[in-house]
Amino acid sequence: MHAKWTPESWKSKTAAQAVAYPDAEHLRRVVQEIAALPPLVTSWEVEDLKSRLADAAAGRAFLLQGGDCAESFDDCGSNAIADKLKILLQMSVILIHGTRKPVIRVGRIAGQYAKPRSAPVERRGDVELPSYRGDIVNRQAFTPEDRTPNPQLLLKGYERAAITLNFVRALAEHGFADLRHPENWDISFSDKSSRSSEYRSLVESVRDSISFVEAVLGNHFSQLEKVDFFTSHEALSLDYESAQTRTVPRRDGFYNLCTHFPWIGMRTADLEGAHVEYCRGIENPIGIKVGPGMDEAWLLGLLGRINPDNAPGRVTLIHRMGATKIESMLPPLLEAVHRAGANVLWCSDPMHGNTETTKGGIKTRRFDNIVRELELAFELHRRVGTTLGGVHLEMTGENVTECIGGSTGLEETDLHRDYRSRVDPRLNYEQALEVAMLVAGRLRRAAHGS
Ligand code: PEP
Ligand code: CO
Repeated sequence: MHAKWTPESWKSKTAAQAVAYPDAEHLRRVVQEIAALPPLVTSWEVEDLKSRLADAAAGRAFLLQGGDCAESFDDCGSNAIADKLKILLQMSVILIHGTRKPVIRVGRIAGQYAKPRSAPVERRGDVELPSYRGDIVNRQAFTPEDRTPNPQLLLKGYERAAITLNFVRALAEHGFADLRHPENWDISFSDKSSRSSEYRSLVESVRDSISFVEAVLGNHFSQLEKVDFFTSHEALSLDYESAQTRTVPRRDGFYNLCTHFPWIGMRTADLEGAHVEYCRGIENPIGIKVGPGMDEAWLLGLLGRINPDNAPGRVTLIHRMGATKIESMLPPLLEAVHRAGANVLWCSDPMHGNTETTKGGIKTRRFDNIVRELELAFELHRRVGTTLGGVHLEMTGENVTECIGGSTGLEETDLHRDYRSRVDPRLNYEQALEVAMLVAGRLRRAAHGS
């Protein structure tokens, strides 16, 4: 038996990646201030997402989750936000076309501000300072002042998330996503890419189908003017997460109302740790990252802890093994979960197991390894008889140069040209669309039994 859960019961457990705030009273004041502010999302949106995730687990929908590794406060501008929404919408149309199923769009957005780090400190020459842990914790500049965790940044994170979400909602609800507005669906693929004509003819064919049906029925589909869009981030800063965790009228239980879909990262998935304790008690759907270090007992333990009622839609397992490890590491886990009869949505993150550092010290990922892990993920699920119902990507709507490869042939020597990520390398606009096309092709073939 576990002790009673409260939004603060995690404080009695050990929190991996805990932040040492120098002024506890300042932290308490800020958390109290966030707690008194209105929620960013609502419980009915959270419940809606949960039932859609249950659909994806059952093969009736597909989850597309993507965005920055780490959002930064400075990037909270209209172009950056619109570009992120646009790439997710474009990818979702490609996937809908391939799967003929609804696609659940979830951004790593409006709260993806805290990062786990492998080393708590960074040394430069003789100077040692706390590592940069995301804009919601401290600042990237290498000075004692910037690197000292500052509770005020939690409040700023909440405000930036609210500003971001406000703009996303306005765009998603009022025509930005309407397929009948071609300007929103234009792509700026470079001529080098072989994919641009494929994409254009796909959008054209979707548009033709819509106008055909509208003409036959004599109806204007006003629903096409809006799209559903959900937010997610790693539930890492429990001070932030629990500040907005509350009950709502006419529903049972507690909701984390700063995001629809929090996930537990690889470094904070300890069964007895604070993050698992916090997540077990909230009603939101929960993502759990599953890496090569996780064995069957650990994974089943997490499912028992987070989803003791085995409710559909409650847990999404996001495996991130790496192209070289997935064949040996994933099948035993798929089989164990399958045998246990656990209701989960399986999702592939082909990014985090494929990070490497170039000789010049730049963190990158190879497009080929990302695609290879995805292909293997589909194949391994097929063999075990489980359903791969989603993908989780780090990507951006801009043409950055952070990952190597893709049809435009980015090379290691291109990486320095436009490398902007503060933490992990992201697929750029063209690479992301290309991944969507490959996944769509794979899902189409699977639907036709080949
Ligand atoms: C992430 O998703 O950015 C991340 C840190 O992932 P993981 O916990 O899987 O390493
Ligand atoms: Co990352």
